[in-house]
Amino acid sequence: MSEPTPETLQMLSRCGQQPLLQILDQLPAAEADQLLQILLDADLEMLVQAWRNADAEPVTAPKSNRAETASAPANVVWQPQSEQDHQRWIQATAAGEEELSAGNVAVITVAGGQGTRLGFDQPKGMFPIGPHSGRTLFQIFAEQIQARRQRYAAPIPWLIMTSSATHSATVEFFQQQAFFGLDQRTVHFFQQGSLPALDARTGQVLFARPGVPALSPDGHGGLLRALKRSGLQQQMSEQGIRHLYYHQVDNPTAIVADPALIGFHNTHKSQLTTLVVSKTSPEERMGALVEIDGRTEIIEYSELTPQQAARKDSTGQWVFWAGNTAVHVFCPEFLQQLTNGDRNLPLHVARKMVPCVDLQGQPVPAADSAVPNAVKLERFIFDALPAAERTLIVEGCRERQFNPVKNATGSDSADTCREALNRIAGEWLRRAGLQLRSEAAVEVSPLQALDAEQLSMRVAEGELQLSDFLMD
Ligand code: UTP
Repeated sequence: MSEPTPETLQMLSRCGQQPLLQILDQLPAAEADQLLQILLDADLEMLVQAWRNADAEPVTAPKSNRAETASAPANVVWQPQSEQDHQRWIQATAAGEEELSAGNVAVITVAGGQGTRLGFDQPKGMFPIGPHSGRTLFQIFAEQIQARRQRYAAPIPWLIMTSSATHSATVEFFQQQAFFGLDQRTVHFFQQGSLPALDARTGQVLFARPGVPALSPDGHGGLLRALKRSGLQQQMSEQGIRHLYYHQVDNPTAIVADPALIGFHNTHKSQLTTLVVSKTSPEERMGALVEIDGRTEIIEYSELTPQQAARKDSTGQWVFWAGNTAVHVFCPEFLQQLTNGDRNLPLHVARKMVPCVDLQGQPVPAADSAVPNAVKLERFIFDALPAAERTLIVEGCRERQFNPVKNATGSDSADTCREALNRIAGEWLRRAGLQLRSEAAVEVSPLQALDAEQLSMRVAEGELQLSDFLMD
């Protein structure tokens, strides 16, 4: 083993890692080296600092004056109401279509999360969500990308971020499924980093095995480092990509590479554009976009007291109405600025149960099964927002575009998402003039139609009929 430097030893001691220091020279050299490398790369000192700053209590009293100084976002493109608005959206769509046809757009799907709330034991992208077909989330996105590539005769590279928790299973699944018919050279997997979990009481590194820290993915904000380290940031720049269309793996109704959003983003010369929807109530557990000191930021629901969350402005509008759908368009140069020198986003702390062992390798039982034993540290991509000088917020249609699968039951679950997919398919078919029973089981593949207009056209031209969509 290369001897740890005195600086490293001092840092471990400053961070209160005495147990770790004790085992260091008992470990095989390669393991000790690897352990130190992980801790230095993760910037353990910063992790411990985040743990020290973390609040153990839920928010009951105002935490900062951020919530008080925030106002509703100023720069918003609203859903069209008037004929003039409609024209504006049509122009934006045409502008976005030009960007797509010119080969200027790549898609990033973040799929590195552990999906603990859903309780599915595979990567979430492999979850069968098609209400009747059982299509997986990955298949729905692959079909959307395929259909857009065909429509615009454009390459549209697909970048999929995985983590150590999801990488092998995801790549194997794509191989088994023959990349859903996509040319595999156009699908790029890249892995985000991991961070060690810390003991919630002591801030000491927790171990999965003796000498091996308990690691978890570093949050969707890990995208910045991972894009750079994988070389994909450079590759996309060489390919002339001008817009990176970002979405999460858990919302199959997200419109991937939506020309309208790309068009607005391009025309406004925005560095970071975000699709928002109106929150259903002030208490809804959804981060809200706001403006603070002339910058766009997100305030998490967990940062607000119930009184703050319900605050209205002088127009009678909720200040925190603009719920983040986690669909963004990034300007690559902006991302490059953020990653210059490997600068990083702030750390967020989540209290979770993490299985761990003691120095002898014996499992450590939880002191109290109701109290999480660990803090996990994560970075969030939306923390990039305040760094942008030019942002844009576009209001989406919630029923059509935001139906995520987060929970095993209840709201934002597989059931609510499948209902939405069935409802949207029914609406498109009725608009195309097809006679449908109200409870009919129907599903539209993105390869059949990307939107209601295309479906109507294909039905009118006799290319598709009702039986192509009926599933029972
Ligand atoms: P969530 O924050 O909903 O987390 O991720 P999750 O891992 O899917 O689910 P829970 O919280 O454990 O139940 C939102 C999106 O960000 C991705 C997820 O894959 C999902 O697309 N993500 C999350 C990452 O890519 N990496 C991460 O480290 C965390």
